[in-house]
Amino acid sequence: MTLPAPRTGTDPGAELAEPGFWQRPPAHRLAAFARLRALGSPVFVPEGAKGAGHWALVRHGQVQEASRLPKVFASAPGVTTPEPARWVRALFGDSMVNLDGPDHAQLRKIVQRAFTPRLLAAAEEDIHAVAARIVDDVLDGQPDEFVSAVASRLPLEVICNMMGIPEHYRAEIADRVDHASENIGVERGLAARLRMPGRGLRALARMQRMVAGIGRERRKNPTDDLISALVCANVDGQALGARQLGAFFSLLMVAGVETTRNAITHGLTLLTDHPDQRDLLLSDFEQYADGAVDEMIRHSTPIIQFRRTVAAEHTLDGHLFRPGDKVVLYYASANRDEALFPDPDAFDITRSPNPHLGFGGGGPHFCLGAHLARVEMKALFRELLTRPVGLRAVGLPDLAGSNFDNRVRSLRFAFERP
Ligand code: HEM
Repeated sequence: MTLPAPRTGTDPGAELAEPGFWQRPPAHRLAAFARLRALGSPVFVPEGAKGAGHWALVRHGQVQEASRLPKVFASAPGVTTPEPARWVRALFGDSMVNLDGPDHAQLRKIVQRAFTPRLLAAAEEDIHAVAARIVDDVLDGQPDEFVSAVASRLPLEVICNMMGIPEHYRAEIADRVDHASENIGVERGLAARLRMPGRGLRALARMQRMVAGIGRERRKNPTDDLISALVCANVDGQALGARQLGAFFSLLMVAGVETTRNAITHGLTLLTDHPDQRDLLLSDFEQYADGAVDEMIRHSTPIIQFRRTVAAEHTLDGHLFRPGDKVVLYYASANRDEALFPDPDAFDITRSPNPHLGFGGGGPHFCLGAHLARVEMKALFRELLTRPVGLRAVGLPDLAGSNFDNRVRSLRFAFERP
């Protein structure tokens, strides 16, 4: 492992390791990333004692290169920060984000069945119906908290419908996902410190066992849902084991539900804060919606970072990486890289091209649900914006201050024309 240069307390990357950093206002964090990008080469971020830490990849080109060289930048040691403990790996080791090479390719091939054009087309019809129902409920009930009333409902219902999760399990699943996410990343408050997300992972473990049980049942009595398709062998004789199914479902809950809900919530804030962009979108929704959705994802970057471990020597932007080095791909910084995005802090739904890395930088782990997420967001904003009620965010979103995802705990909202 490359030994970092002696630290003097003025290490330019040091503040990224401070839990307090992630609770500071977004503008402060973005300014810090801009300074790091200007340095050119990756910077070292010390984590605790004894020279431990990671190299921060903050430029668009760096994140893209690392994503596309999986033999150099491996995922197997774990992609979260801090890395999962051994007991967590024993439990979650099958999760595809933490696999490389043939192990990853085989698992991805099986679960890709969830994302074939035929299944996605069927899901699309369902998405429009679920989005319309959610907005009907909102107009009837007049709730004032957006995350629970709107943003988290759509992705959860869509995935549960695709997978064929019985209705009576869903409230409990939603609760566990919420609990798990709340405990991932950096803790809030004065006692803030980096820590293992043990409690959150235990919530996911309980959910995995529940889904594994459904999988065993479907293997005996298959139906036409996705769980049946995943656990029953296809023509290649490949299927997920019950434990792998549980791990995949947990991944979908965090990777697919949390991310989409946060993107939707940030999207409402962005449209409220930028009435000119909202008016433009409303002037021709079908023309501008795709650009608006991608700009929401670029601007909010729901997944802030993923980690890789160097498996082979490689030079990137003048820095020689050696096996064992830890690197962190800061999507949140890459998406504001002024080299790629003119006026990067502006929210511009007509931005073109918009080569953001919100779904990853390409390569074998590129987000499996990118198309699904875009369809969900477009369907929901169509319903939210085109009903004549003038829905608006009220006040600032309550951000969780996590170093992993740009999570919004709550956001108040109101109608201009009730
Ligand atoms: C706005 C919403 C979303 C964002 C921002 C997002 C972002 C990401 C990112 C950054 C990665 C890692 C890419 C890499 O390492 O190169 C990823 C992976 C993944 N995403 Fe998403 N995602 C979203 C929605 C979804 C949805 C809706 C699903 C599924 C229903 C999903 C399923 C996955 C899976 C399974 C992986 C792991 C792929 C692998 O390791 O091969 N994501 N996502």
